[in-house]
Amino acid sequence: MLQAKRILLIIGGGIAAYKSLDLIRRLQDEGAQVRCILTKAGAQFVTPLAVSSLSQDKCYTDLFSLTDEAEMGHIRLSREADLVLVAPATADLMAKMAHGLANDLATTALLATDKPVMVVPAMNVEMWAHRATQRNMALLQADGIAVVGPESGVMACGEVGAGRMSDVADIIAAVKTHFSGPLGRPLSGLHAVVTAGPTHEPIDPVRYIANRSSGKQGYAIAGALAALGARVTLVSGPTHLPTPKDVDRVDVEQAVDMLSAVEKALPADIAVCVAAVADWHVAGENGQKIKKEASGAPPSIRFAENPDILATLSQHPTRRPALVVGFAAETEHVLDHATRKRQRKGCDWIIANDVSHQTGIMGGDENLVTLISADGAEQWAKADKHAVARQLATRIADWFDHRRKDS
Ligand code: C5P
Repeated sequence: MLQAKRILLIIGGGIAAYKSLDLIRRLQDEGAQVRCILTKAGAQFVTPLAVSSLSQDKCYTDLFSLTDEAEMGHIRLSREADLVLVAPATADLMAKMAHGLANDLATTALLATDKPVMVVPAMNVEMWAHRATQRNMALLQADGIAVVGPESGVMACGEVGAGRMSDVADIIAAVKTHFSGPLGRPLSGLHAVVTAGPTHEPIDPVRYIANRSSGKQGYAIAGALAALGARVTLVSGPTHLPTPKDVDRVDVEQAVDMLSAVEKALPADIAVCVAAVADWHVAGENGQKIKKEASGAPPSIRFAENPDILATLSQHPTRRPALVVGFAAETEHVLDHATRKRQRKGCDWIIANDVSHQTGIMGGDENLVTLISADGAEQWAKADKHAVARQLATRIADWFDHRRKDS
């Protein structure tokens, strides 16, 4: 399966480095050629001698080694590989990768490479959950870097939670998937439409009605789907966010325009409606700015209902996407309301979240969600919106994978 594939394995400094010795062997068993860089911190956990004995090659450690530079410069080292695999990837190493720091051989090779990169994080629970690490993860994913794990369980430090390096068998499986699919992008060939942000419903040429949605969650989902290879059309209400990498963005203001843009983007395999679409727009044209009445009486505004984009897609007679996902932002009875919403709208999954003021979710960086499907409800751990997006994109890829296998 991995016959003649050249893998540059970068071993970072963590107790999980001992698993990397086994990883070298298992990759070789699959036919891969493994060349290793051991960071200075990594060498505190495993020795260069063990690494070079197992890889049957030199263990590269030093950026400024004259002989290494003469025999095999860091540029060549990073280019003469089909895949750069970082295992264990420590919080420090990922932070350096995310920000382009290059002060040793490992980080220099990572910055110089033009090859796909896969990271296998391993660290303490709190370090993994830290916003800084999650931010860096989001940057790495936006750069197209694949991530394996981490797993939950008991850590070497005795704490329990997410941060444990994936098992060697899982890493090998991910490497195989990488080489089997079109560059390990399980959603390639699929088109996803994502709605995000608020809508602005005009009252007159200068005033509008809006809501507190920042668009962060929807943008992160669009980016995460693109990182897994989907062609993504992001139909966005007004936001201040940059367009995620490899995403086609269509800007709209009102709900009616959002629906037209979504319908224009069809056919799609996946629809994820994250936008906080206004339920009503102001009825009747106010072509001119409404002026204050001399009498001081405030104007009255009449509302008319907006189209429901999620329901329209879910019940589309001819072009219903295979998987339609909606969001349910609720302030009370979250699960009840969301479960009923799934049935009412006819979508496949609802991602429910509590946006009551004290949660700080609306406009904030974190999200606490429950996935509701026909199979029931599943609460996910509170996480950065980018982590939630990655988890959802992976679930979507799994769904299509099962569907392919079943057919
Ligand atoms: O009915 P409610 O607004 O609570 O439903 C939320 C879900 O429906 C979200 O997925 C949102 O994007 C979608 N929606 C929509 N069009 C509307 C209202 C909501 O797509 N007009």
